[in-house]
Amino acid sequence: MSEQIDNLLHEVRRFPPSAEFVANAVAQPEIYAEAKADRLAFWATQARELLHWHKPFTRTLDWSEAPVAKWFDDGELNVAYNCLDRHVLAGNGDRVALYWEGEPGDTATFTYAELTAEVKRAANVLIKHGIESGDRVAIYMPMIPEAVIAMLAIARVGAVHSVVFGGFSADSLRSRIDDAQAKIVVTADGGWRKGKVFPLKPTVDAALAADPTGTGAPSTVEHVLVVKRGDNDVTWKAGRDLWWHEELASVDAEHVALGFPAEHPLFILYTSGTTGRPKGILHTSGGYLTQSAFTHKNVFDLHPESDVYWCTADVGWITGHTYVVYAPLANGATQLLFEGTPDSPHPGRWWELIEKYKVTILYTAPTAIRSFMKLGRQIPEKFDLSSIRVLGSVGEPINPEAWIWYHDVIGGGKAPILDTWWQTETGAIMVAALPGISTLKPGSAQVPIPGIDLEIIDEHGVIQPHNSGGLLVIAEPWPSMLRGIWGDPERFKETYWEKFGAKYFAGDGARYDHDGDVWLLGRVDDVMNVSGHRLSTAEIESSLVSNQMVAESAVVGAADETTGQSVVAFVILKSSHIGDMSEADAVALLRKHVSDQIGAIARPSRIYIVAELPKTRSGKIMRRLLQDVAEGREIGDTQTLTDTTVLQTISAQVRGD
Ligand code: WTA
Repeated sequence: MSEQIDNLLHEVRRFPPSAEFVANAVAQPEIYAEAKADRLAFWATQARELLHWHKPFTRTLDWSEAPVAKWFDDGELNVAYNCLDRHVLAGNGDRVALYWEGEPGDTATFTYAELTAEVKRAANVLIKHGIESGDRVAIYMPMIPEAVIAMLAIARVGAVHSVVFGGFSADSLRSRIDDAQAKIVVTADGGWRKGKVFPLKPTVDAALAADPTGTGAPSTVEHVLVVKRGDNDVTWKAGRDLWWHEELASVDAEHVALGFPAEHPLFILYTSGTTGRPKGILHTSGGYLTQSAFTHKNVFDLHPESDVYWCTADVGWITGHTYVVYAPLANGATQLLFEGTPDSPHPGRWWELIEKYKVTILYTAPTAIRSFMKLGRQIPEKFDLSSIRVLGSVGEPINPEAWIWYHDVIGGGKAPILDTWWQTETGAIMVAALPGISTLKPGSAQVPIPGIDLEIIDEHGVIQPHNSGGLLVIAEPWPSMLRGIWGDPERFKETYWEKFGAKYFAGDGARYDHDGDVWLLGRVDDVMNVSGHRLSTAEIESSLVSNQMVAESAVVGAADETTGQSVVAFVILKSSHIGDMSEADAVALLRKHVSDQIGAIARPSRIYIVAELPKTRSGKIMRRLLQDVAEGREIGDTQTLTDTTVLQTISAQVRGD
């Protein structure tokens, strides 16, 4: 890790804001002092200024039931009304909310008035089919406007959405549906990806047909609402399956949004943890929307009347929830929504879109930037990117080389880059510089946003001095923090609060540099970060051992130039089950097995069939040492191992000796 830090520190250039930027900046320097003087009053002001309250709140924070916080809890609001109706009522109904571009190049535009009308009808469809406040609805969709419309419609009626990324398998979808006991699934026949339609409805059918517990218990799903997108053939279960367009046409156009308590659940989003089972992270309404809107406006310097904002995340991830759906719409922004991938049908597709829609703010992930770097600057240079004025980064640390490239090639040498650290659990950005105020430092996420109390401590809770690494914790509750793990309050406490009492343990290592800027050093637990997506070593291990050929497995994340980390698995096979299968066939079969069980993102990039795994005397697998091996590094301390030859054998195997 120290080698990594040295590399990062080699970039010494600093980037102060330009006078022109400062003159028009949304965030003013006083904001830090204001938040510091009275943190709770600061957040209360943001909540009042940024949102419409059906019933104003008088209490800001109630931490008496820690670690479950209540923010603004005697107030009432409707999240969808905040994202839609109020902009129309304020005279901005004709402003474009969404420019949508499908992968084949088809397009659609929704003004705020049009989006509001769609969401009202969709809300009536949900009500027609029995959805009430508090009910759960699953979403399994491509990046089409209906995904946004469905999320907002669910929020509008006070129901709770659980969006499952469209790349997840039928098994993953089913376990999430079961955990949340969803009554409806909203999906599409298929979506477009890399020049082809990928079917979604058949995966939903498989998920609902499957019987994971073996008890024959049917799923809780009563209806499947299907958007026509891919035009692929689908099978139809009469009574259960409903076409979205037919249902929307069948209901009333008017729907009045009611206020719900600020702590009313808004969504559940499953994310990988350190054990096999994904956690359903629960977010609620008022605090979540406040911090989402605040960070979006200030970190990206949003001028809603003139900016065209584009966040490239899929709505299946937290970045898509907060910075594609809720924050931009709450702030009345105009944004681009894109269904496709960066390189289809040609490697300049993103840059073509930026030129076409005159995108001014781009928010994406380092893994994408590094892929573009590999292809070369001649591709973006073919397009006019002069509209770009602010750039954002999220998902993993942005290495200084990628930072400089992003700044020079995409940002024309002038656009500030905001590296934003946060998590599914934090709901919204926690650490980021503010453009127009901060001097930017490539590689560092820099400072907590105003109103956030961050500390870097050691294992014993002692605050670390500058220049020495430690664990990142959040010392005080924040508005958009998770309110729990769905159905599992104990796991919520154990995972985040057991280690340091009232301080939230994020699971990331970090250090302050000599200026007091924060550098993120990666996860300190068994969570991997592949292309900015969180994967759990335990989840992939349990998928591998669920295959009858596998006796034991160990999974590690190995450093990867483009994707940050890649999944590497070490597997012991049961001799009784291999027969005359070749090792290559077994590896191919296991890669497919993981992909089928969890989803293609979890497919190991390398699998090594080994005879034994390195273990401590107490029987614990030493993943840290396997990671050294997978990364071709010198192997760390092996003193606690029962048998060091095991590791030497594996190491020779990985080197290909
Ligand atoms: C990592 C994504 C360094 C971190 C919003 C965190 C980052 C995990 C950054 C959360 C960043 C995210 N710099 N590391 N700017 N952003 N991470 O829940 O390890 O998908 O704990 O949320 O990604 O991933 P999640």
